[in-house]
Amino acid sequence: KYVLIDQDIVPKEKAGIDFDDRGYHFGDGIYEVIRIYNGKPFTINQHLDRLYESAKKLDIPLSTTRETFTELINELIIKNTIETGIVYIQLTRGLQPRNHLYQREISPVLTGFAENLERKEELLTNGVDLWLTKDIRWLRCDIKTINLLGNIMAKREAADHNCHEAIMHRDGTVTEGSSSNLFLIKDSTLYTHPATNLILNGITRQVVIKLAKEAGLHVVEEAFPVDVLAIADEAFITSTTMEVTPVRSITGDVSATLEIGPITRQLQEAFKQLLP
Ligand code: PDD
Repeated sequence: KYVLIDQDIVPKEKAGIDFDDRGYHFGDGIYEVIRIYNGKPFTINQHLDRLYESAKKLDIPLSTTRETFTELINELIIKNTIETGIVYIQLTRGLQPRNHLYQREISPVLTGFAENLERKEELLTNGVDLWLTKDIRWLRCDIKTINLLGNIMAKREAADHNCHEAIMHRDGTVTEGSSSNLFLIKDSTLYTHPATNLILNGITRQVVIKLAKEAGLHVVEEAFPVDVLAIADEAFITSTTMEVTPVRSITGDVSATLEIGPITRQLQEAFKQLLP
């Protein structure tokens, strides 16, 4: 297995992380997960745009060019002979003896890996069960930070209730999943939380909104209360790894049993058409 460290791709055993890495001390870093289909990175430019945005929002200096990132990502894919999988790219603020106050002069540390990950055919066909719980995260969920405690706690809680994914609500308003965005469908209209500071604006979310509009569907980017989940006609979650995955039930703070309906199927199909 070959991994990326700074600008080099080396065997995993040869790569080490420094003890003084701020990512390790403070979770002071950002990341992206990019899907690989047929050996090619999917929507790589949108992911790189978001990486630059996250870096800017956190005042992390990022001088690596888009061309370099693209080359490094492609090299990771080739060296690891990945056909269907993911690339993970992480950037921490860099090395500094532990101190809350960060210095602006330090150089970020770039790491990454690629691994095989098949499309989740079974889940794409049969759907997933969701666990609805409180959103206890901070108020900058728009930044793709590696600091994911609220997310991983919600995910564990979901798994402990035999659910595949957690979806979260802030004071009764549905936000997003622990690692996905949520859409619901009522009377042929799609509803999803707007891209504010309270959610991560998923690349898959953006692709699906575009596909839905192209198909003539009405898309409303407005926050909705948890009770609406119980009267939805259909629902699905989106993410790089899960694509468009239907929801078959919701338990936790609200209970609902859902049909996997025609609009979800239509959008799954439209998404699949985009894959290389
Ligand atoms: N997670 N919301 C959150 C909190 C996420 O962590 C993710 C992605 C998404 C969906 O974004 P996208 O469509 O760009 O993948 C929404 C990635 C896959 C992860 O952490 O593994």
